[in-house]
Amino acid sequence: MKSDRHAVTLLSLAALSLSASVLCAQTDSAGMVVSKRGLVISSSSIASDVGAGILRRGGNAVDAAVATAFALAVTYPGAGNIGGGGFMVVRLKSGTATTIDYRERAPLGSTQTMYLDANGKIDRKLTATGYLAPGVPGTVRGLALAHQRYGKLPWRDVVMPAAQLATKGFPLDSELARGLNREVAQAMKPYPASVAAYGKSTGSWQAGDTIVLTDLGRTLTAIATRGPEAFYKGWIADSIAAEMQRNGGLITKKDLAAYQAKERAPVRGQFHGYDIVTMPPPSSGGVAMVEMFNILSHFDLQRPGRWSPETLHLVIEAMRRAYVDRARYLGDPDFVKMPLARLTSAKYAAALASHIDRSKATSSVELGKDIVTPTSVATESDETTQFSIVDADGNAVSNTFTLEGGYGSHVVVRGAGFLLNNEMGDFNKKPGETNVQGDIGTAANLIAPGKRMLSSMSPTIVTKNGKLFMVTGSPGGRTIINTVMEVVLNATGFGMNAREAVDAPRLHHQWLPDVATFEHDALPDSTLARLRAMGHTVEQRGRQGDAHTIIFNAKTRTAYGANDRRSADSKASAP
Ligand code: DON
Repeated sequence: MKSDRHAVTLLSLAALSLSASVLCAQTDSAGMVVSKRGLVISSSSIASDVGAGILRRGGNAVDAAVATAFALAVTYPGAGNIGGGGFMVVRLKSGTATTIDYRERAPLGSTQTMYLDANGKIDRKLTATGYLAPGVPGTVRGLALAHQRYGKLPWRDVVMPAAQLATKGFPLDSELARGLNREVAQAMKPYPASVAAYGKSTGSWQAGDTIVLTDLGRTLTAIATRGPEAFYKGWIADSIAAEMQRNGGLITKKDLAAYQAKERAPVRGQFHGYDIVTMPPPSSGGVAMVEMFNILSHFDLQRPGRWSPETLHLVIEAMRRAYVDRARYLGDPDFVKMPLARLTSAKYAAALASHIDRSKATSSVELGKDIVTPTSVATESDETTQFSIVDADGNAVSNTFTLEGGYGSHVVVRGAGFLLNNEMGDFNKKPGETNVQGDIGTAANLIAPGKRMLSSMSPTIVTKNGKLFMVTGSPGGRTIINTVMEVVLNATGFGMNAREAVDAPRLHHQWLPDVATFEHDALPDSTLARLRAMGHTVEQRGRQGDAHTIIFNAKTRTAYGANDRRSADSKASAP
């Protein structure tokens, strides 16, 4: 790594004034970027520009998605990745919609109780950092599958911009500079290759410094020139396997060679005349979201209004029911049988809705008493990343991918320069233990060799009368499903534009712990008091999610993009 602050400051000033002039020309009075030539919105301004550049060069939305994802692996290292996994929903202008599942898999050497200590307690350190935390990465295969099926430009052309960013370096913004300094001093410290990749040789990173990621550049160049095989069978696979073997990790060359991304049929639902196209298992997001919308369809939310205690109560009750079913039933479809048709049916939602008391909170423990056991504490982190893309023809991509926690396992593969995920923590780690703190121990999501861990990532596309309407998604662990549901609800049920739908306050309830959290100061105290009087435990929290959203006007063929201002460097870029 090296730094040359002065040159980069000039460079970034030039880039800033360029992007400012572009933005002025395109941002409307409501704060949305408006484009008829397509839009790319991500949490990294550089990555959004890379995606928009691909659209400008004649690439379609899938080409732009692949380029944006690889760029995020360079410029947004907390969550953008090639050492993790994720999900992509693609809707083509023809109306065909599909999904790409590139979720990580448990290594073949993993066991159901590998994260329990001698006393049978979950050892959370083992899934937080280090060599037992990663699942077999899926990102490179997933992006390659999407590109092979639906891309237009040569693979090399969509991967090389990221390789160049890593090799030539890019300027750090203040948030990333701060984040890297913190990581290098703390969580990455035990891993010399991580410190070598992301530390600054002298002193600490400042905004405007250039970071060069030489090894990552070489890895991305190999992927660009030789395709995904370079990652799964070539020297990169050798490097991962060697890193694991040296340090007691489980991923082998056999695991890597066997990894397949999968194209799966989307989960579909309806709300207020809109059609929702979203992610099936091994993400729980689509099923839970459709279940919530089906329940909410039974109530008139407009009359009391979006922010009334009555509506918020019904939304919480819908969330509670969808999340208990998530815990009861959902896992990897290649390993478990799930009643998906029933969970997403109108009949089932009607039965659930009929048991909601309009003035009183349901007890979560009562609702799930068949699966709840007493005991300990669980947490889930907030680092994943969403990007949303529409091209000039109206093809659309929603993609969410992650390393799980910020910077994943914190382990950089020596010589290959990329971070490995810590996604194994998304499995149910203790069979039979489902507790009021939020641990889940049900059978569907227990660890098994080769199995995909259950996710909440919910990339989503909404259509109306067969025409593209909306592209959205979010990070946020278990909050993801609710964030995405609320953004879609705001637009489809309450007519909000993309900016309003994204800026609106967010609420989260995940069945257990039995607590409704609201973003800080989002709602008046009187509203929270009414909810408490109904029996809800209500708390306030920091920001929830990062839901970059595009609403598409199919008549004028215009995309309206709202980056989520909850993330500092996010940007909607037009070609
Ligand atoms: O797949 C999942 O649901 C989680 N591993 C996602 C993690 C996440 O969103 C963390 N941050 N935002």
